[in-house]
Amino acid sequence: MSRTRYVIGNWKMNGTRVGAQALARAVAAAVAASGRASPRVVLCPPATLLAMVAAETGEGRVALGGQDCHARPSGAFTGDVSAEMLAEAGCRYVIVGHSERRTLHSEDDATVRAKAEAAHRAGLVAVVCVGESLAEREAGRTSEVLARQVDLSVPGGSGAGDTLVAYEPVWAIGTGRVATPAQVAEAHAGIRARLGARIAGGAGISLLYGGSVKPDNAAELQALADVDGALVGGASLDAAQFLAIVAASPG
Ligand code: 13P
Repeated sequence: MSRTRYVIGNWKMNGTRVGAQALARAVAAAVAASGRASPRVVLCPPATLLAMVAAETGEGRVALGGQDCHARPSGAFTGDVSAEMLAEAGCRYVIVGHSERRTLHSEDDATVRAKAEAAHRAGLVAVVCVGESLAEREAGRTSEVLARQVDLSVPGGSGAGDTLVAYEPVWAIGTGRVATPAQVAEAHAGIRARLGARIAGGAGISLLYGGSVKPDNAAELQALADVDGALVGGASLDAAQFLAIVAASPG
């Protein structure tokens, strides 16, 4: 069975109403007009913009995702958003374990796994992020770090229907320094093997690459054997750039 292809836009903490509405509207219109059923296109705006983006994308081909969720369904967790809340707001997806959460909010693998499990309980697809730091890569520890993150962050019962894994080398995020095709291919092959060995449905899980994906590198990266799509940060804030990355998916 062939794996599902995705292009996911992670807007991070960017966007206020007017610009974001125009961006969501342009993406939704172009994806609808393209007539292509693949890749699946997902927008992950900040929580404040979920309702507005949901109104723009409607029941169309562009799906909605959150950028993070809490592991618990409700409670005294000031500032947090639960997976259930995201589902109610119209989300089908949620990113968990992004390196900015792991680093800036001290989230460890167990926390990420708990969040992915919460996403599954709420009926959401968890987009679990993994990736090595520059120091880890330079120390020759990339495959070991990725194996540990996959083992400890991806819930054991995961499958293609409820989980994606995004490989985002920390040193390539927001730096303009994209991993080489050889580096991406090696990392993805390792993640694919690890998922397949550990989880019954693991080999069918779609693997996305993220880290300075731009229109000029999107075709080459998305054509790699174990790359099923892209998780896009900065370029997802520009409709033309994001849509060029969508168009570069082999579909
Ligand atoms: P950039 O595309 O800005 O490097 O960000 C990648 C990312 O972190 C997506 O989640």
